[in-house]
Amino acid sequence: MSERKKLVAGNWKMNGSLAANQALVQALRQGVGQPACDVAVCPPSVYLGQLQQLLAGQTAIALGAQDLSQHEGGAFTGDVSATMLKDFGVRYAIVGHSERRQHQGETDLQVALKVRRALAAGITPIVCVGETLREREEGLTEFIVKRQLSAVLHLNGHAINETVVAYEPVWAIGTGRACDPAEAGRVMRLIRQRVAAAFGAPAADAVRLVYGGSVTPDNAAAYFADPDIDGALVGGASLKADAFGAIIRAAAVAPGAPAPAGARKEQPT
Ligand code: PGA
Repeated sequence: MSERKKLVAGNWKMNGSLAANQALVQALRQGVGQPACDVAVCPPSVYLGQLQQLLAGQTAIALGAQDLSQHEGGAFTGDVSATMLKDFGVRYAIVGHSERRQHQGETDLQVALKVRRALAAGITPIVCVGETLREREEGLTEFIVKRQLSAVLHLNGHAINETVVAYEPVWAIGTGRACDPAEAGRVMRLIRQRVAAAFGAPAADAVRLVYGGSVTPDNAAAYFADPDIDGALVGGASLKADAFGAIIRAAAVAPGAPAPAGARKEQPT
């Protein structure tokens, strides 16, 4: 049985303000207690300093970034480097989110280079892969996911067990049209098989695979029940403390998750 610990990460996207962030983090800190899964929040980069302070003195919620530069430093106006993120206590970085692939034209190679930068700085990359609706309708899901994954594996395969892969079908993001959990599980197994073929069964067993795309408190448990789904990347629902807290609790009671101290009686029998 794998020892993979579940991860629930909140992608705030371009949302928030000093006041709203403070209220959200305060509510989250009260609501999540000491969760039995890893939890991260990924605010816009200008708020990382604020979040570092708001999250100080606790270990329940880690700090994540939404992107990082593929370069080490220098003349790259507007970019933020991995070492700068590290300065602010960032532990995770989302890389290659479909919104960046779509709106900023990020390529598979750029994504792979960003993953390499994150790993070199000791930041855990959460690499997003996933097909568009058109690609799914044309039967290209497997092809697209494998292509996106290949570049990452090619440059970073040696560190795949320090990498999180998020399967996020583009058509499920922000649409309320979540992917069927069985189908998400099927794609996860494709990803794990691909990692196994390239780097062996232990690497495939170690890599954490999370699902993203319209995850809510109502559907989260169905994803977490799949032994190959190791958590969730949550957009909209991560902006509401109640909803995000409920998703975290669903991960904590999922099969394979260690029972939180004092919560055994809440487990289904
Ligand atoms: P969503 O976003 O939960 O709002 O669908 C997920 C994501 O973009 O990571």
